[in-house]
Amino acid sequence: MERLTIATRPIAGQKPGTSGLRKKTRVFMEPHYLENFVQCVWTAIDGVAGKTLVLGGDGRYFNDRAAQVILRMAAAGGAARVIVGQGALLSTPAASNLIRVRGANGGLIMSASHNPGGIEEDFGIKYNIANGGPAPAEVTDKIFAATEVIQSYDIVETTDVDLQSLGEQRIGETIVEIVDPVAEYAALMEKLFDFGALRAMFAGGFTMRFDAMHAVTGPYAKAILEETLGAPAGTVVNAAPLPDFGGGHPDPNPIWAKPLMDLMMGPDAPDFGAASDGDGDRNMVVGRGLYVTPSDSLAVLAANAHLAPGYAGGLAGVARSMPTSGALDRVAEARGLACHETPTGWKFFGNLLDAGMATLCGEESAGTGSDHVREKDGLWAVLLWLSVLSARGESVQDILTKHWAEFGRNYYSRHDYEGVDAEAAEALMQSLRDRLTDLPGQTFAGLTVTAADEFAYDDPVDGSRAEAQGIRVWFEGGARIVFRLSGTGTVGATLRVYMENLELDPAAQSGDAQEALATVISAADAVAGIKDHTGREAPDVVT
Ligand code: G6P
Ligand code: ZN
Repeated sequence: MERLTIATRPIAGQKPGTSGLRKKTRVFMEPHYLENFVQCVWTAIDGVAGKTLVLGGDGRYFNDRAAQVILRMAAAGGAARVIVGQGALLSTPAASNLIRVRGANGGLIMSASHNPGGIEEDFGIKYNIANGGPAPAEVTDKIFAATEVIQSYDIVETTDVDLQSLGEQRIGETIVEIVDPVAEYAALMEKLFDFGALRAMFAGGFTMRFDAMHAVTGPYAKAILEETLGAPAGTVVNAAPLPDFGGGHPDPNPIWAKPLMDLMMGPDAPDFGAASDGDGDRNMVVGRGLYVTPSDSLAVLAANAHLAPGYAGGLAGVARSMPTSGALDRVAEARGLACHETPTGWKFFGNLLDAGMATLCGEESAGTGSDHVREKDGLWAVLLWLSVLSARGESVQDILTKHWAEFGRNYYSRHDYEGVDAEAAEALMQSLRDRLTDLPGQTFAGLTVTAADEFAYDDPVDGSRAEAQGIRVWFEGGARIVFRLSGTGTVGATLRVYMENLELDPAAQSGDAQEALATVISAADAVAGIKDHTGREAPDVVT
């Protein structure tokens, strides 16, 4: 084994985004690209000498090669131990849990989440800190600063680690421990949920389909839903993780999980449908004939979490990202819970969870989670939903209908304009920013603006401030529109327009969201000049 110091030069564009560094796979495969970034992670955390790290990924193309490089660089840096999911697989929530239960100093997760995988698609890597959560800006800023000045990296030359053999191997002094990626995670789920009750529900004929989308949750869902809870074989579909996710987008939404949607809207729908994304942190929940928006799902879970043993003592508080609908706020208000509003990005929940200020949190982008780990958690959300269904003995549809009647329905929709020219998107945002103080009192598509601002967040725990987190416009009657540029895209800019309107009349709560929001949708274009700036007639994705 030889330890080498390889001369390199800064590579432009290695700035971690909302969720780590994401680029085309081929970019990651360019000489020094991955190595530079990993060395800069080591630099940002004052080196890895003597440290314990967790390593795993979602199984996408290049996952295994990247793991070998990272292991050799961890060894060169003198890491004491690297705990690796077998086959270099770990879902993001399972990695977060492993960091926590093993008291690791941090971990690297190889994933581009819900983005497609393959040599022509996307790869990504992110660093999580000792609490199990995504690195905060303080750390990612240091990583980025290091990428701008890096001159060399350290790596050892050695044969590949056998990523399939459970147990300990060594690279020099560094112990590489290969673990079952599912075991610790499954044990945690068993602590939070009444597996006996769920087993009884499946034994009683409850039916569901879980679409793992050929991504990392397949093995987790099979082990927990089928092997432990007794759901019939075949409940979990697309269960084998594939390097290209079978050619699809492993993104659990009505568009990319269309086969599941079709099943759930058809005559043969099971009682419950769910899906998770590439790295297992997102979730989609569907009832028979009814898609549950992530914002509604969060609100329903907040109102019912006490039905699961892990949350029987009630919630310390709840939190949602700013563009997520106000449905959660309605529950919080009714139940006397503190409700925090954070910028987009799971990392902003970390301090609230650590400080015991929030137990449950979620985002409109299909993320729901709690203080059990420091990432959002797709399968956890499914198990909590199953717990609610088992405790209440009602259908998803009945639960939603009653929820809306009690708390009101926040009709909600997000329109995405993808691959927009970055300058044009920035110009749209800047134009809104320039007019913020003039907007109140003006009328767009018949709706009068009552207030407008650009969201900034002061973290109540560490006092840090995040600015320019999206533009909010409120209208008479309570409608809200948020404009934001995505922080996770890899091509051009993605403009996201989030629209909502509260409906308190139960007789008007079962409508179609696009219809219920038609005026708000028109107002969004009128206030921001979406067509003019982007040249687009319609959004690419409507959820
Ligand atoms: C990732 C993060 C989420 C965040 C989402 C937003 O999935 O983990 O916390 O909500 O990105 O993505 P966007 O493309 O809207 O920046
Ligand atoms: Zn994800």
